[in-house]
Amino acid sequence: MTEPTVETGSDSRAARPTPARRTSVRDIQARKGGTPLVCLTAYTAPMARLLDAHADLLLVGDSLGMAVYGLDTTLDVSVEMMINHGRAVAKTAERACVVVDLPFGSYQESPEQAFRNAATVLARTGASAVKLEGGQEMAETVRFLSARGIPVMGHVGLTPQAVNQLGGFRVQGRDEAAAERIRGDATAIARAGAFAIVVEGVIEPLAREITRAVKIPTVGIGASADCDGQVLVSEDMLGLFGENTPRFVKHYARLDQTIDAAVRQYAEEVRQRGFPEAAHVTRPRQS
Ligand code: KIV
Repeated sequence: MTEPTVETGSDSRAARPTPARRTSVRDIQARKGGTPLVCLTAYTAPMARLLDAHADLLLVGDSLGMAVYGLDTTLDVSVEMMINHGRAVAKTAERACVVVDLPFGSYQESPEQAFRNAATVLARTGASAVKLEGGQEMAETVRFLSARGIPVMGHVGLTPQAVNQLGGFRVQGRDEAAAERIRGDATAIARAGAFAIVVEGVIEPLAREITRAVKIPTVGIGASADCDGQVLVSEDMLGLFGENTPRFVKHYARLDQTIDAAVRQYAEEVRQRGFPEAAHVTRPRQS
């Protein structure tokens, strides 16, 4: 984020670098049908710093429960966890639009509960929007928040917070009844005022149909190249989970192997007293 500027004369103004403009939710919405949106998850300041130059949107996803905290599902993620990670990302990213997930149990009860938690998340993190999961049953909540100054990103299809109802993390929309329901979910959320919508884990033609049917950008994950953008969990695409990644993930790097080699070398050097070297220690000053 940009530091407040203090006017101290023309020389200091000339020396100041032009601050980056943060991508707004309106910029994201305007990308419907245009160059695909690049979205990635970010949970920490170092990762936000690295991704900010390349991503249009950084999602502080509740997937952090699994990716960072080693939980089996996202159900035990709290509002406080989202605030801590959201603040680290929003403080660091200068360009990308930062969106923070509302965790399970923090918005489903009523539009008022959703408003209280979403307002706290935005105020305490500095993020631009919240994301919530669900379809027709959440449309009233999306409308309530959008009408009160809280931009909302929707999330339909495979909604991980409903893992117990879905019977696992499995592809959705295989039969016509399920596909019809998910189409209805997406259109209900879009009509309720969401600025964009994640379409996760659905069969490819359904993701394409939803993209054609709604006026807001769709961001696919395990969905279709025809979506208006793509999102991946950064730890997945960077190869930090080894072989244990879903089928729809492409490994753009194998950082697990890079880290393994680096730590192996460090361990060997420590054991052989090869580290620290002269450059890494402080010698007394010559008197
Ligand atoms: O929690 C998350 O990271 C997400 C993305 C995978 C879309 O919802």
